[in-house]
Amino acid sequence: LPGAEVLVLSNREPYIHNRTDHGIVVQRPASGLVSALEPIMRACGGTWVAHGSGSADRETVDANDRIRVPEGAPSYTLRRVWISEAEQDGYYYGFANEGLWPLCHIVFVRPAFRSGDWHMYREINQRFADAVVAEARTEDPVVLVQDYHFALVPKMIRQRLPKATIISFWHIPWPNAETFSICPWRREIIEGMLGSTILGFHTQFHCNNFIECVDRFVESRIDREVQAVSLGGHETRIRAYPISIEWPPSALASVPARETCRAEVFREFDLAEGTKLIVGVERFDYTKGIPDRMRAIDALLTRDSSWEGRLAFVQIAAPTRSKLDTYSRLQAEAESLADAINARHPGRQTPIRLVARHYEASDVLKLFRAADVCVVSSLHDGMNLVAKEFVSSRDDNAGVLVLSSFTGASREMSEALIVNPYDTEELAAAIKRAMSMPLDEQAERMKLMRQQVKENNVYRWAGTMLVDSARSRTRERILA
Ligand code: G6P
Repeated sequence: LPGAEVLVLSNREPYIHNRTDHGIVVQRPASGLVSALEPIMRACGGTWVAHGSGSADRETVDANDRIRVPEGAPSYTLRRVWISEAEQDGYYYGFANEGLWPLCHIVFVRPAFRSGDWHMYREINQRFADAVVAEARTEDPVVLVQDYHFALVPKMIRQRLPKATIISFWHIPWPNAETFSICPWRREIIEGMLGSTILGFHTQFHCNNFIECVDRFVESRIDREVQAVSLGGHETRIRAYPISIEWPPSALASVPARETCRAEVFREFDLAEGTKLIVGVERFDYTKGIPDRMRAIDALLTRDSSWEGRLAFVQIAAPTRSKLDTYSRLQAEAESLADAINARHPGRQTPIRLVARHYEASDVLKLFRAADVCVVSSLHDGMNLVAKEFVSSRDDNAGVLVLSSFTGASREMSEALIVNPYDTEELAAAIKRAMSMPLDEQAERMKLMRQQVKENNVYRWAGTMLVDSARSRTRERILA
C-alpha cells in the first residue's frame, strides 16, 4: 500500500497510563487484539484511535488528545477518545459485553439486549467514526476497524469517506444464523459491517456463518464463488485471516534460558523438585473454561492418587470486566472451587495455585518456559493466542500443549492434544498423557507447531489483509 495512510480503530488502547502511588505508570492490557496489532503499528506507523481508559490518560495527551507511543521509541500516534461512565455502561459493558460477547461465543450465558445499551452503542460508534474521519488526512485512507465494539463504524465511515479502504476484523467467533437471529438489531449490525471493503474472521467457518446471516437477514446480492456481498452498489469481500503473534515475540529477548525460568518459577510458587508444572494464562473470562480445567485436575488426582504432591497447576487469571455479574461470579466460583479441590487433596504440596492478577508479557513467557504442560481449555474462542505464545517460548522443543477443539487455533495446531473441555474425563486423561509424554514425542509435536506459527505469524496475518486491500484499491481505480 505505497503511500497510503493507515488508521487503526479499536476500543482497547495499546498503552494505558494510570496514576499510582509511584507516579504515572504505563500498562499493556491483556488483549489478544492489542498484542496482535501493536507490532504491526510499530512497524508501519500511522494513527491508532482508541478509548482512553487509564486514570492518567488525559494528563499524558496533547491538546488534540494525541500521544506518540511507545515511550522511548515512538513510532506511531495514539489518539484517545473519551467516554463517560454512563456511556461505558451502555456501550462497552452493556451492548458489547453483555449482548454481543455471549451472543457470539455461545457458552450458555444468556445475552442481554437492552434498547438503552443499543442506543448508547450506536452513539459511541458514531463518536469513534467521527474521530477516525477527523484524524484522516487523505480522502482514501486504509482504516483497520477492530472487533465487536464497532460493528456500525464501517458504514458510518463509508458515508463520510466513500473512497476509504475499510478492512474490518472480527476477533471473536461469529455464530450461525439461528443463533444470531435472537439479536433484535441483527440487520443494522450486519449492514454496518457491510460498509467494509474487506471483512475478516479467524476461520472459514465463521465466514460461512456470517454469509448465512447476510442471506437470511439482509436484502443483498451474494456471490458465493468469490465470497462477496453487494449492498447498495458497494461490495464487501468476506475472508478468513487467522490471527497470530510476533515471531519471535519481542518480550522473549528479556526472558532467561529454560533452567533459570524453571528455578525462578519453582521458587516463586514454592514447588518441590521434580513437580510436573501445568500452567494456564488468561483473562478471568467465562469463555476460557477455567473451572473446567480445575475440575479435570481434581478428577485426575481422584482417579490416580499417585499424582498427589507431584503436580502443580498454576493458573494466572487477569481480572477483566469485573463490573459485570457474570465475571465477578466466575471469579468467586473459581476461587472457591480451587479451595475445595486443594482441601480434598492435602498432599505434600497444594495442587491448584490460582493467581488473580495481571502478569506482564515477559513473566508469562517465563512461566511458559518453565512449564511441562500448558492447558488452553476455552469453551469457545475465535483464535486464542495463548496457545501460540506458549509454543513461541519453547525453543527447547519441549512442553506439551493441551488445546480445546473449540478454539480457532486448534485448526492450525493439530499436533497439540486436542480435547473437548466440557468432557472432564477426557481433559483429565489428556493432562495425564501430557505429563507422561516422552521427550522425543514432545519435540516432534512442538517442532511442527513452532514451524506453523513461525510461518503464519502476525505479519502474515496483517500482510495478507493489506495485500488483498491493495488489490481491491487497484481494481476499483482501473474499473472506475
Ligand atoms: C478479546 C476481545 C478484544 C478485547 C480483549 C480484552 O480478545 O476480542 O477486543 O480487547 O478480549 O478485553 P477488554 O474488554 O479488556 O478489552
